[in-house]
Amino acid sequence: MSRVIFHDPQDQPRPAAPLAAGEAVRDTFGRPLRDLRISVTDRCNFRCTYCMPREVFGADHAFLPQSALLTFEEITRVASIALSQGVRKIRLTGGEPLLRKQIEVLVQMLAQLRTPDGLPPELTLTTNGTLLARKAEALAKAGLTRVTVSLDALDDAIFERMSDSGVAVATVLQGIQVAAQVGLAPVKVNMVVRRGMNDQQILPMARHFRGTGHVLRFIEYMDVGNTNGWRMDEVVTGAQIIQQIIQEFPLQPLQAQYRGEVANRWAYTDGAGEIGLITSVSQPFCGDCTRMRLSPEGRLFTCLFADHGHDLRALLRSGATDDALRDRLAGVWSSRSDRYSEIRGEAHRDHKIEMSYIGG
Ligand code: GTP
Ligand code: 5AD
Ligand code: SF4
Ligand code: SF4
Repeated sequence: MSRVIFHDPQDQPRPAAPLAAGEAVRDTFGRPLRDLRISVTDRCNFRCTYCMPREVFGADHAFLPQSALLTFEEITRVASIALSQGVRKIRLTGGEPLLRKQIEVLVQMLAQLRTPDGLPPELTLTTNGTLLARKAEALAKAGLTRVTVSLDALDDAIFERMSDSGVAVATVLQGIQVAAQVGLAPVKVNMVVRRGMNDQQILPMARHFRGTGHVLRFIEYMDVGNTNGWRMDEVVTGAQIIQQIIQEFPLQPLQAQYRGEVANRWAYTDGAGEIGLITSVSQPFCGDCTRMRLSPEGRLFTCLFADHGHDLRALLRSGATDDALRDRLAGVWSSRSDRYSEIRGEAHRDHKIEMSYIGG
């Protein structure tokens, strides 16, 4: 049995100053709060070797009980407060978010929220795609804007080895196709590249997704969590990935669409679409990081590599007012000084959160 317990330091939040419409609370480096990533479950039907290795996440692993999870009402309340503090984009993650029962009901509740400027938030979801063909239409009807689908290989044997799931690549591809058909487009496809595992799939993946309208993004393998035995020599850098692709398909760099965009985008010069590179190991992007993460049991994390979260659930369940919740959330963000990827070599963390607990 294994579970990392995250203690909550009794940090006293400073009262949140009122914000004008369009303004955002800022952290100690002046970075605004713009994105809220909500993990709705710590469970997944895959056991990707780099995320939930079966030796650790086996039959006796203690997942969170249902009663520990924030309810949809609680999640929506936190999201609404986060919107008042600057958030413009909400992403649902897991684990596998489509395993959470009636996730489309949560999507519908979140889609009704408005920013202080009266705009709906951008509402997206990251999934492994296995249940997507079945759920895409309900998600789109509920108000989801887009989806991102994880897919690490086109070859079934390599995919099986990486995801340790027994799921066929065709199932995920069908999920992608149905998602695009019902308007959750453009679909983004995330491929984590791990040397010796799936680096020979870079070109087949590029060939497959060129011209489809879906945007393939290559992610450098990261040292998230404590269980994947990450080694630097398993990282294929964004530059190495571009080197491979450019030999077959000429590419040109694209301008970032907004400050803080995670992926570096490149366009095929023949007009067959674009790809993205997420280079958090070789070229960290902490300087523009505007992301707050909410765990399934209601802890706020200000970095993917954090070793502790800030509990909101106790406040939510003790009848706290919206003002108290706002002060807590703003206090957590305004005290933030995370920049793990920039100081990776020096930063020692005993118990980093797991990706399956907090989402990507
Ligand atoms: P969209 O472009 O709006 O779809 O979102 P995005 O570019 O943020 O992409 P997505 O949320 O799919 O993130 C892609 C991957 O980038 C994640 O799965 C993570 O592996 C990585 N990533 C995202 N945010 C961070 C971050 O704050 N820090 C680090 N180190 N990696 C991140
Ligand atoms: N390094 C990079 N990306 C990862 N993901 C999960 N674990 C890692 C890791 N160690 C990605 C998944 C998915 C998203 C949720 O995060 O492949 O696309
Ligand atoms: Fe599941 Fe995604 Fe982790 Fe794979 S990377 S085990 S699909 S949460
Ligand atoms: Fe943001 Fe932490 Fe990722 Fe840096 S390492 S980009 S601070 S989540």
